[in-house]
Amino acid sequence: MAQEDIFKKIIAHCKEYGFIFQSSEIYDGLSAVYDYGQNGTELKNNIKQYWWDAMTKINENIVGLDAAIFMHPKTWEASGHVSAFNDPLIDNKDSKKRYRADVLIEEYLEKLEAKIQKEVDKASQHFGKNFDEQKFRTTNQRVIANQSKVDEIKARFIQALEKNNLPELKKIIEDAEIVCPVSGSKNWTDVRQFNLMFSTQLGSVTEETNTIYLRPETAQGIFVNYLNVQKTGRMKLPFGIAQIGKAFRNEIVARQFIFRMREFEQMEMQYFIKPGTEMEWYNYWKEKRMKWHKALGMGDEKYRFHDHDKLAHYANAAADIEFQFPIGFREVEGIHSRTDFDLGNHEKYSGKKIQYFDTEENRNFVPYVVETSIGLDRMFLSVVSNAYTEETVESTGEQRIVMRIPEVLAPTKLAVFPLTKKDGMPEKARKIIDELKFDFNCQYEEKDTIGRRYRRQDAIGTPFCITVDHQTLKDDTVTIRHRDTMEQERIPANEVGKIITEKVSMKNLLKSL
Ligand code: GAP
Repeated sequence: MAQEDIFKKIIAHCKEYGFIFQSSEIYDGLSAVYDYGQNGTELKNNIKQYWWDAMTKINENIVGLDAAIFMHPKTWEASGHVSAFNDPLIDNKDSKKRYRADVLIEEYLEKLEAKIQKEVDKASQHFGKNFDEQKFRTTNQRVIANQSKVDEIKARFIQALEKNNLPELKKIIEDAEIVCPVSGSKNWTDVRQFNLMFSTQLGSVTEETNTIYLRPETAQGIFVNYLNVQKTGRMKLPFGIAQIGKAFRNEIVARQFIFRMREFEQMEMQYFIKPGTEMEWYNYWKEKRMKWHKALGMGDEKYRFHDHDKLAHYANAAADIEFQFPIGFREVEGIHSRTDFDLGNHEKYSGKKIQYFDTEENRNFVPYVVETSIGLDRMFLSVVSNAYTEETVESTGEQRIVMRIPEVLAPTKLAVFPLTKKDGMPEKARKIIDELKFDFNCQYEEKDTIGRRYRRQDAIGTPFCITVDHQTLKDDTVTIRHRDTMEQERIPANEVGKIITEKVSMKNLLKSL
């Protein structure tokens, strides 16, 4: 099945099983804004807990913060967002559709690269073991022609972005003969900059001075509180401040479900360090964060680093952790060495001294910062898209859809079923839940056949199902059924809690980091 079709199925599944709904759906929805349903909320909270504990619980020098979404407007002048947080836009005059010029060019390059790869794969299949890829790439005329187009456009593209050269972006689109996907025409407007921040008015008077912004990143709330936390917590460098919260961006190319949203959630940690140690800490956090992802067991091969050639206005080194989504490898987290750009600028714009006194070196300085920034919604998407599995049950030939969500993150950990609604089985099932509901989320189900109940739990990723049957009433044992293998075993009812706790333990996961 094509990856695009799988992606559509995942989106439909998320809606059907209460993970994600379109915002204000009864009014036909709001573009690129989503609500999390009953199962989505639990999964999201579990991801948050994993991140929060991995930052603040197991590192004694990382503390938490919950800053307001609204901030003084000068914050965004100091951070560079007012002047530099822009996307280059272009309109097609025939379809009246608006695009990001850089995305149009990137997609064009991706298509050419895919063409080259297709030729290479075809030749590799044809020649088998004797295939010399390097030789093929340097001798095949079609590959050479496409590769030289890629190299030429890429070089011009990087330069145009670096120099903020908007006419050159338009020229590249024209030279590459990129057409509008809707109208098919090359009738383009000029490229112009568009600021991604949402603005609103503070108070009742609509004057220019009252314009404030919805924060486009949570990081600035941490920077403006650096002194408060450092002083009140008597923190010594290196130390970190972690925060989870909403961010807002008026994304133009808002598509691909929750991959690119206009309202989303970030989990960011700013690590304050001595100037000159930034590369050491940058590499440290790159490895640490990759380990955090891989510890979930979704497959090491699904992750890779992408080191940035073009750096954001605040960074001197940056890398993404990319995950293999059904739409390809895409960024899920960024690690940035932000130097003293933010604290230095806040010092300048606020007129307040934002410095650290180093008692060993007996001097003041503005700390440097290494940031880890992960999108909670993208992390959520990586989990659900990796979990979604369609398979045929060998013993019955039946089709089942199972969400292989890492057990520790699953929205519901345990479902308990009475085999029938009589003979005291419902009461026994309820009793098991009453004991375990303080430790983890449980569900009680008595409708339909046991097989159907299993399917419903598979669809929301519940790792364990317990059935109370006639034998339970005789010897106090139950069957436990495992989601992924569908194996069933008989165990004493009073051991259910212990067995499941061991498998879904956040503590064990955190210890593995
Ligand atoms: N403070 C640094 C910062 O905001 P970023 O690369 O712009 O850096 C960090 O964003 C992370 O936030 C990304 O890796 C991504 O996971 C998430 N993110 C960014 N824009 C997003 C959007 N429109 N929708 C969903 N997630 C987004």
